[in-house]
Amino acid sequence: MCGIVAVLGNQPAEPVILAALRRLEYRGYDSSGIATLENSVIDRRRAAGKLDNLASILEQHPLSGHVGIGHTRWATHGAPTENNAHPHATQQVAVVHNGIIENYETLRQELVNLGQDFNSETDSEVIVQLVDYYLKQGKAPKEAAFAALQRLEGAYAIAMIFAGDDNIMIGARHGAPLVVGYGEDEMYLGSDSLAVAPMTRKIAYMPDGVWTVLSRKGAEFFDMDGNTVECQVQTTALMAGAIGKDGYRHYMEKELHEHPVVIGQTLRRFVNPVTHKIELPEMPFDMATLKRGIITACGSAFYAGVIGRYWLEEYARLPIDLDVASEMRYRNPPFEAGGMGLLVSQSGETADTLAALRALKQEKQKIISVLNNEHSSMARESDLVLGMDAGVEIAVASTKAFTAQLTVLACLTLVMAQARRTISSERADECLTALLDLPSRVAEILQMQEQIQAMAQIISKVQSVIYLGRGIMFPVAMEGALKLKEISYIHADAYAAGEMKHGPIALIDNTVPVISLLPSGPLFEKTLSNLQEAKARGGRILVFTDAKGAERVKSIAEQIVVLPTVHSFVTPPLYTVPVQMLAYEAALLKGTDVDQPRNLAKSVTVE
Ligand code: F6R
Repeated sequence: MCGIVAVLGNQPAEPVILAALRRLEYRGYDSSGIATLENSVIDRRRAAGKLDNLASILEQHPLSGHVGIGHTRWATHGAPTENNAHPHATQQVAVVHNGIIENYETLRQELVNLGQDFNSETDSEVIVQLVDYYLKQGKAPKEAAFAALQRLEGAYAIAMIFAGDDNIMIGARHGAPLVVGYGEDEMYLGSDSLAVAPMTRKIAYMPDGVWTVLSRKGAEFFDMDGNTVECQVQTTALMAGAIGKDGYRHYMEKELHEHPVVIGQTLRRFVNPVTHKIELPEMPFDMATLKRGIITACGSAFYAGVIGRYWLEEYARLPIDLDVASEMRYRNPPFEAGGMGLLVSQSGETADTLAALRALKQEKQKIISVLNNEHSSMARESDLVLGMDAGVEIAVASTKAFTAQLTVLACLTLVMAQARRTISSERADECLTALLDLPSRVAEILQMQEQIQAMAQIISKVQSVIYLGRGIMFPVAMEGALKLKEISYIHADAYAAGEMKHGPIALIDNTVPVISLLPSGPLFEKTLSNLQEAKARGGRILVFTDAKGAERVKSIAEQIVVLPTVHSFVTPPLYTVPVQMLAYEAALLKGTDVDQPRNLAKSVTVE
C-alpha cells in the first residue's frame, strides 16, 4: 500500500525523506510528495507517477527545513494525479495517510458545511481538514489531532506536522502499520523498519489503535481514549545495505538469486544440525489428535498454502479446508473449536488475511502464521508464528518469500506427520534429506538462464498462455501464471491438467502456448495424455520436467527445460524457481517495469 516517512530532526529533512521514499516505493508508485516546515511554514512538492518525477521537481525547487513528511501512493480513492498526491495540507497542518477512511463522505459533507475548502478527490483529505477545523476552533495541535482521530473510521497510518510548531509531530495507526524510529535528538515515523533503517536501528512497532506525539527527545503513546500506553523500543537487525540491488538489474532478479540462501537460512532456523531433526516451537494444539485445519492467504501466499494443503493431507493425513482470505473472511463455514487456522503472509499486514485471522480466532481456531515480518499485525495476533528468513523482499512480485513459505510448510508437514505417526522414519528422513539438498538443486536451476530465456522468447510474443499442472504441481502452475501476468502483462491461466478437457481446451490453437510442469512420478502419464490432447489441437507444448520425463515428452514438446531430478516431496519449491524466472525473462523481453508493475503495490493493507 502507500509508504509513509516523517522526520523531526536537526538536518535538512528533504534528502532524508526522499531517500526513504525510494526504499518505500515498492509500497505504491502512483504519485509521491514531501512537505516540510520552512521557518515554521508548510511548503510541499508533489508529483504524479514515479518518484523520479518528484525528484526532478525537487532538483529545480528544493525544500528546506528540518521537519517533514513524505508519501508514496497506491491510489484507492481519487485518480493518481498531482492534486490527489499526499501530503494533503492546509496552511496550518500537513498529513500523509496510508489506508482508507471509510466515513470520509459523511465527514467531508460535514466539513464542507462548516466552511472547510477541499482540494482533492481523496478520502485522506478529510483528515487534514478535520484537524484544520479543530485548530481553527482554538485547539492545540495535540488536542486537534486527538479530536480528529476520534472521528475517523476505517484503516489508517498517519503522520502530521503543524505550521508554527516545529517541535512536534504526530503519528497514529489503526489497521495499517507504523513504526517510530529513535535517533540522536531526532525522531522518525515510517510505514516499516525499512523506511527508517539507515537513520536508526532503534524502533518501536506501534500497536494498533495507538497514536503518538513525537518531540526531538522521544515519543509519548496514547490509546484512543487518551490513556498513556507503553510501547517497547527494540533494536532491529535490519541494515540499509540489505536494501541495495547488489549489481543485479532488478530487485526481482536479485531476489530470485537469493532463493538458495533463503531456503537454507529458513531450514537452519528449524533443523537441528546435531540431531538432524526438525524442531518447531510448541504448537498451540496437540498435533497427534488435531482433527482439521484451514489454510487461508492471498495471492502467491495462497498458492504456497495450497501446496501446504497437499503436503499436510498426504503426509500428515490431516484434513485441510482452504480458501483465499478475501472469501474466507465472509464465508462463515462451520468450525469445531480447537482446529488449526494456518495463515501464510510475507508482510503479515495484508488486510484480507488479517481479517481472516480474526474471523478464525472468533471461531476458536488456534492460529499459526507463517510470516516473513515477525513484527507485523498478524504476528501479534497469532497463537504461534513460524518465521521464515527471506529477508526484505522489495520487488512487488513475490519470489524468495514464496520458497521460504514452502520451506516452513514442508518442515511443519514433516513434524506433524511424525507426531501423527502417518510417516515412517525412513520416509521422513528421505524427505528431510531432499529438503536439505534443495538449496543446491535450486542453485543449479539459477544457471539455466539460457534455456529459460529461449522459452521466454516464445511466450513474450503471444497474448495468452496456459499453465498446466496435476496434483501438487497445480498450485505451482497457478504461481507461474500469476507471476507472468503480474509482471509481463501477458494473460495467463493455470488449470489442473485434468480439467483442461472440460472447457479450457477450446482456447487452444497455435497462438496459445501450453506450459506444463511435469516431474516424473505417478501423475506423469496422465498429464502427458492431456498434453497430447493439446498438441492434437495445434497447441505449442513447452515443458519443465526432469531427465526421465524429457525422454517421454520430447516427441510432442517444442521446448523442454530439463530440471534436476529430486524427491517428489520437494518438486513444488524446485519447479517454482524456473517458472518465476520465466516470468522475469518474459517481462524483460516485453520491456515492462519488472519491480514495480502497473496497478500493483506490495502489502495490500486495504480490503
Ligand atoms: C504476487 C504477490 C501477491 C502477494 C499477496 C499476499 O507476486 O506478491 O500476490 O503474495 O498480495 O501478500 P502477503 O504475503 O504479504 O500477505
